[in-house]
Amino acid sequence: MTAAITGIGAALPEHTVPNSYFEAIGSSDEWIVKRTGIRERRFLPEDGRLADLAVTAARTALRQAGRDAADLRHIVVATTTPDRTTPGLAVEVAARLGTPQAAAFDLHAACAGFVYALDHATALIESGRAEAVLVCGAEALTRITDAADRSTAVLLGDGAGAVVLTDLPDAPVAPAFHLASDGEHIGLLFADRHERKLRMDGPEIFVHAVDKMSDATRRVLERSELTCDDVDLFVAHQANARIVKAVGKEIGVPPERLFLNVDRVANTSSASIPIALAHAQEDGRLGPSGVLGVAAFGAGITWGAGVLGW
Ligand code: ACO
Repeated sequence: MTAAITGIGAALPEHTVPNSYFEAIGSSDEWIVKRTGIRERRFLPEDGRLADLAVTAARTALRQAGRDAADLRHIVVATTTPDRTTPGLAVEVAARLGTPQAAAFDLHAACAGFVYALDHATALIESGRAEAVLVCGAEALTRITDAADRSTAVLLGDGAGAVVLTDLPDAPVAPAFHLASDGEHIGLLFADRHERKLRMDGPEIFVHAVDKMSDATRRVLERSELTCDDVDLFVAHQANARIVKAVGKEIGVPPERLFLNVDRVANTSSASIPIALAHAQEDGRLGPSGVLGVAAFGAGITWGAGVLGW
């Protein structure tokens, strides 16, 4: 069995927030664009439901994969900011898609969650335990953002994305993943139970993000006996354009094979890779099939990288 992505979807909240919005907290379009590449992001309203976005993204991905939701047995939603403390988002997504019997759970690995979930889905397919797995990333980081803190508020956005993984006998590559964490660095990026606001050491996170995503990607390529030249599109977690470009430079991916949409959506945490995949498809950057490289990094710290076909 060879797992590959056969359907992609994304859904963003309607409300677009330009950089000028943050002038009120002492920031500016010039500072944000220069340091991050972000130009705008979407915010989910206070009473907005992440499940709505996840279901819309999932329906698009299922349609593209030619799969009936009723046939799905496994649904994983990577999220740090679900609509309820319990139950998780995945059970609601399952019920609304019409798959009430599916094994459905949320996976929390901060911004690396989607890559962790891809690895899990791949293992289910390769072991023959699932024929198709729906993997969503859905996030409303604005729920845990200190709106008055310019050092984090300007970086984050809300949204959801989804992919369907199925067995694809003629997949262009056998999937491989490398996942890791280091809880010694919890203090670099966290939101505690009482305050529920993200606190971050930006410069330290920057250094770790480049280092860890580059290292994980190198390991995956080596294990797969691939080089960067074999990767058709590299989609890293869209935290900051400078981070993504620095990873590309470290591992030797030329700019034309490095995807960036952080300008449009900012950092959407575990939703960032599937949203980027949907945008890459819309922009004509994903051909009919190819080898995809993914890498992500988040609070924990957690990180991971993978190669798989689409
Ligand atoms: N607008 C204007 N000025 C600002 C802002 C802002 N939004 N934020 C910080 N500044 C100021 C600081 O106060 C500081 O001022 P000072 O020199 O007078 O003290 C100055 O800008 C420089 O601050 P630094 O933090 O050193 O700026 P840096 O170049 O490191 O850029 C940034 C900050 C963009 C946050 C960068 O460190 C970064 O991208 N880090 C990684 C962040 C990240 O990706 N986090 C998420 C990863 S995990 C996840 O996705 C949840």
